[in-house]
Amino acid sequence: MWSEIENRIDYLRKEIIRHNDSYYDKNNPEISDSEYDNLVKELEQLEKEYPIFVSLSSPTQKVSGVVSSSFESVKHSVPMLSLDNTYSYEEAARWYERIKKNLNENNLEFIVEPKIDGVNTSLTYVNGILIVGSTRGNGVNGENITENIKTIEDIPYKLKVTPPPIFFELRGEVYINKLDFKDLNDEILGIGGQGFANPRNAASGSLRQKNPQITAARKLRFFAHSFGKIRGEQFKRQSDFLRYCKECGFRLQDDFKLCHSLKEIVSFMDIMLNKRDLLCYEVDGLVIKIDALELQEKLGNTSKSPRWAIAYKFPAKQTTTMLNKILVQVGRTGIITPSAILEPVVLAGVNISHATLHNFEEIKRLNVNEGDIVLVERAGDVIPKIVKVVKKGKEVLFKPPHNCPSCNSEIVNESEEVAYRCINPDCPAQFRRHLIHFVSRNAMNIQGFGKVAIDQLLKRKKIQILADIYYLTYNDFISLNLFKDKKTNNLLEAIVASKKRSLSKLLFALGIRHIGKKNSEIIAKKFKDMNALFEASVEDFTKIPEIGNVLALFLKNFFENSATRHVVNTLIAAGVNMTEPEAYKIGRQFEDKVCVLTGELETYTREQASEIIMSLGGRITSFVSKKTDYVLAGANAGSKLEKAKELDLKIIYEEEFKKLIMASEM
Ligand code: IVH
Repeated sequence: MWSEIENRIDYLRKEIIRHNDSYYDKNNPEISDSEYDNLVKELEQLEKEYPIFVSLSSPTQKVSGVVSSSFESVKHSVPMLSLDNTYSYEEAARWYERIKKNLNENNLEFIVEPKIDGVNTSLTYVNGILIVGSTRGNGVNGENITENIKTIEDIPYKLKVTPPPIFFELRGEVYINKLDFKDLNDEILGIGGQGFANPRNAASGSLRQKNPQITAARKLRFFAHSFGKIRGEQFKRQSDFLRYCKECGFRLQDDFKLCHSLKEIVSFMDIMLNKRDLLCYEVDGLVIKIDALELQEKLGNTSKSPRWAIAYKFPAKQTTTMLNKILVQVGRTGIITPSAILEPVVLAGVNISHATLHNFEEIKRLNVNEGDIVLVERAGDVIPKIVKVVKKGKEVLFKPPHNCPSCNSEIVNESEEVAYRCINPDCPAQFRRHLIHFVSRNAMNIQGFGKVAIDQLLKRKKIQILADIYYLTYNDFISLNLFKDKKTNNLLEAIVASKKRSLSKLLFALGIRHIGKKNSEIIAKKFKDMNALFEASVEDFTKIPEIGNVLALFLKNFFENSATRHVVNTLIAAGVNMTEPEAYKIGRQFEDKVCVLTGELETYTREQASEIIMSLGGRITSFVSKKTDYVLAGANAGSKLEKAKELDLKIIYEEEFKKLIMASEM
């Protein structure tokens, strides 16, 4: 029996260490938080019952997490702990009663805050200036990500209080809103990449980019929730600390509440649980904290977590169902992706029949196959995912296909990515996806040209190259299912109208790998016609602030390629426009100037100010660099303004901006 217990303890320790690694270092958790907590609880229980097996190297004795090797390491002046989790009102109530008893106090105040699922980050300000930004890492040492942190709008480079605190180490969560997460994934998928599984992974992946410019383009946000070492300022309460953060220039979450009783806490828990799907950000629960810092100190911390706070995790939206089929699809850029067709089931009020499987690694990890009963989970607005197999159907491994399901040519497993790809340029499935993309709203915008029509025309061999779209006739359409006279004529008109689309739309429609909608616009505005792109050198591309050396080389090769030239020539022959119209300008004050906006203006919203600058010939970017011409700074301007000063760039404040605009109205 002893050896059985020892084996179990050994197994649990190894599993927990492995899951810490997947969660903290690889950003790719394999199991849900509650499953992880169950492993930890079981290990803690066994170590308590059998102290003979207690070991200092056990993960129960350490704060978890590992430091990734790709960034420089920084030591936190006070360790970054984690929180104990509870999963029910009853468990939270027991914690509440225990605290009351331990402190022997009846009139306790608690602050209940949202638990945003993001990346735990520490910011160190010395005399009010941001010196270091780091991830939590293993709690003792984190990764130095200062340059990336400086690109986040919500984080001031200089604290707005006078005098500033001598030393201020504050902690909070870097996260991404649900809608921004969706846009980001659409953009990544649009350029042939693989999207992030959830907002947490998106925030973490974006924050740990080697190139801060990429971080800057991701709409990351920050909210402060705790602190490490502070000198030169004192607080009595967590609520005072939060208020002070606001004075310093941080954005404060509205969704927190000061509670005076368990009843108030529970009713706020209810409110937030109901509001969960309406919030702009993804929350995985709430954090209940004692408000008075003196009482927090009295209770202290264990080696892993504070005794004065507890996390209440919202119930996961999970259910089980049968996985009927693993569908293997070929994307526009040839990537082969698996997805799961489920036996339809209702989950949190929504009918579900599909789940993502991301890639073939994921299938291997889950050891999932057709016929298995699986646990599916829906988090926020994200597509359902398979958490694990509950019951195996048959014990056979699902293997990625060797050949493309569409053209049968051999599939290549690119070593740097987990992607399997069909590299046959004539693959019919890729061409079909390419056509669907070409006619879509953000591309050539041919309304009424749906997948059903495309599929029928492909089958009848009416479209064999892109340009064939422009030679389709009334007879080709009228004979298709559901096409009548009016619909046919409308579609023919829409096809003709699409010949006039701008170069930027055409570039996006061509589905160039790595080039999304925004970059298509930037490139088209700069080069103005396709010929200029055919003649452009690598240096011509790198002159654009958003385009680095690697992308520039890729673009040069793309436009030089004979296949590209052939596609373009056939489109020219069909009468498709190859130029970018001059943007409507009311003046030239910002002609060819690259501008960055920071802070809040009194008279204009950010969108209005951007529109004005563009109408005066300028361009807006989100990252300050040597290539920036002007920085338009409003109130509470953050690190971008400081960077502009450092680089000695021209800074325009609101008054001067208004004068410049006036000049255009004369
Ligand atoms: S307080 C001693 N408050 O949850 C820990 N944490 O395991 C103090 N988190 O990754 C943390 N929202 O970054 C606190 N309102 C909140 C939070 C919060 C999210 C994260 C935290 C950490 C995890 C705790």
